Amino acid sequence: MDMPVPKKNAPLRQKDPPPRWRKEVQSVLLSRERIASRVRSLARQIEKDFAGRDLVIVALLNGTVVFLADLLRRLSMPLRLDFIGVSSYRGGTESSDLVFTKELRLNVTGRDVLLVDDILDTGNTLFRVSAKLRRLRPRQIKICVLLDKPSRRQEQIAADYVGFIIPDHFVVGYGLDYAEQYRNLPFVGILRPEMFAPRHGSQT
Ligand code: XMP
Repeated sequence: MDMPVPKKNAPLRQKDPPPRWRKEVQSVLLSRERIASRVRSLARQIEKDFAGRDLVIVALLNGTVVFLADLLRRLSMPLRLDFIGVSSYRGGTESSDLVFTKELRLNVTGRDVLLVDDILDTGNTLFRVSAKLRRLRPRQIKICVLLDKPSRRQEQIAADYVGFIIPDHFVVGYGLDYAEQYRNLPFVGILRPEMFAPRHGSQT
């Protein structure tokens, strides 16, 4: 598939966070402007690739919500939307067992599925979710993620649409959490090391 020539591989220069977040966030990896521009080009590519198709967007809860909302509003095409809930019970930065907390309701058999997630990290989550979806016999499954950390991959899985390839930092913001916090940051940032506290349960 033709991917746009994105700025996704342009060097990521870390910047100071806004004053409000400076105590907790060490640096901004992706500014809201940079994310917005990349989301626009991802949407253009998706519109082109799925033109005339019977598209179902399947988004993973909860980390995708901000990215998904921005991406959806850029897609001027017929589509259906559904969610799968996955809880990884990662205490903080490492995922462990996956539990499905919400099942798909829409019928995807014979349809084109675009599976949307916040980040492709070890790949365990998307590997398991796409295997589950394949059993429903969609026409095809493509994967779209805002962030990709290829250096951490444990499963043979790649995304078809990637917002940004990032180095191995645990990132928060724009939907991504640490212990359920920081999802509301309008940028993707790196937390200060002292913010990583003992483990609590968390959803992806
Ligand atoms: P993997 O690919 O390892 O990713 O199965 C599973 C889920 O873990 C979350 N994740 C992160 N969340 N910052 C976060 O806030 C990160 O750097 C990060 N890496 C992984 C994410 O929800 C993903 O869907």
